[in-house]
Amino acid sequence: MPQLDDFLAEHKDRFESDLFDLLAIPSISADSDYKSDLLRAGQWVAEKFRRIGLSVEMVETAGHPIVYAESPPVEGAPTVLVYGHYDVQPPDPLDEWISPPFEPTCRDGNVYARGATDDKGQMLTHVLSAEAWMETAESLPLQIKYVIEGEEEVGSEHLAPFIAENKEKLACDVVVISDTSQFAPGQPAITYGLKGIAYFELRVQGPRQDLHSGTFGGAVSNPCNGLAHILSSLVDEEGRVQIPGFYDDVLPLDSRERRQFAGLPFDERGFMEQIGVEAVHGEAGYSTLERRWARPTYDVNGIWGGYQGEGEKTVLPAKAGAKFSFRLVPDQDPKKIAEALREHLTAVCPPGLELELEERHGAPGFVVSLDSPFMSAAALAIEQGFGRSPVFIREGGSIPIVTCMSEHLGADVLLLGWGLDDDNTHSPNEKFSLTDFHRGIKSSAHLWRELSRIGAS
Ligand code: BES
Ligand code: ZN
Repeated sequence: MPQLDDFLAEHKDRFESDLFDLLAIPSISADSDYKSDLLRAGQWVAEKFRRIGLSVEMVETAGHPIVYAESPPVEGAPTVLVYGHYDVQPPDPLDEWISPPFEPTCRDGNVYARGATDDKGQMLTHVLSAEAWMETAESLPLQIKYVIEGEEEVGSEHLAPFIAENKEKLACDVVVISDTSQFAPGQPAITYGLKGIAYFELRVQGPRQDLHSGTFGGAVSNPCNGLAHILSSLVDEEGRVQIPGFYDDVLPLDSRERRQFAGLPFDERGFMEQIGVEAVHGEAGYSTLERRWARPTYDVNGIWGGYQGEGEKTVLPAKAGAKFSFRLVPDQDPKKIAEALREHLTAVCPPGLELELEERHGAPGFVVSLDSPFMSAAALAIEQGFGRSPVFIREGGSIPIVTCMSEHLGADVLLLGWGLDDDNTHSPNEKFSLTDFHRGIKSSAHLWRELSRIGAS
């Protein structure tokens, strides 16, 4: 496709400036102060689709708007649905950013900004590839429907009913998502499994108000002590979650998959260096890749309570709290996990403390079959974009809506990641390699051609 490839090569600067424009909008979905910026980001995406020549709708929800766009149907070719998100995670801690999170800045071939890789940069590759087709061939070789939402980072609560209520409108043969990573720099990957999640907030209340820890300490339960006890009761030293029944539905790793993971050139030393630790640690009996990709895990995401100011204060605090989550694997059910957790908490709660458990977002884990013509088409397209064929991996992150999409639309899912494990997603100094941005656009442009050859279902 020389004409298309030339167009991509000639428009690199323009594509980058599009990306920087979108990155400058602080679309932080977790923080209600940014509601108008989410609207602005959604409108930016909608305007981009309009300029390309697609029909566009902004779908209002009780949360942030969903941007829906589509190109015309193409007889004899399959229909693709591209999913992505324009919302981002909070950028804190702010003082650890080298350049401000919403002032996209280039250093060493990367663009640094919150959302650079997750997911504005990756999502845009599928928009710009459509633009390239429209500019060079005046049409796309297959129908593309786009669902770009603003609530992925907070659990996609309002997208799920939109999918369930619009099955016909969203009917497609395959869903394409770029919101994952390569296996290593220059070694692209197709992800065939993601983890699910069950996220909780726990509040612990003790005495009516803060007390003198000398006068009252040791005679009543301390909410901070109690919280530490409860949180640590959830996992043992071997990394096994201690909630009864937690592992009952876990899809075990089979020996074929374990061999396949072990055959990947994973550099454990490099992994430790990248994140600055001297040792790995996790569930006994499993390798680092197995723990990261295919075993359920438990992490405390935030914890508070007691005196945090300068100096010392001998206080027995009245309350404490934590946010924590389990990453789930197929076939664990987030609802069942929540019920079992409630029972466990009741059993381990120290006397005199009251617990309030709030269930936040939940989504099941996901695995997809590697045997599909769409997978082979994606592998060919990636080879053309990256100059190297992809490896097949699972990942530990979650994209809450994937299971809902695959179930309601009955479509295959292609998770094609252009990011890197060291892109600092959800951390300070998030980045995206501009080389990978352009490789992603090229892979995507070729993907439309490769998929169009498969024929409609
Ligand atoms: N892009 C990630 C998902 C991801 C992360 C896939 C790492 C593969 C590897 C996505 O935007 C994300 O971060 N999702 C959240 C979902 C949660 C808030 C429900 C996540 O995984 O924490
Ligand atoms: Zn994402």
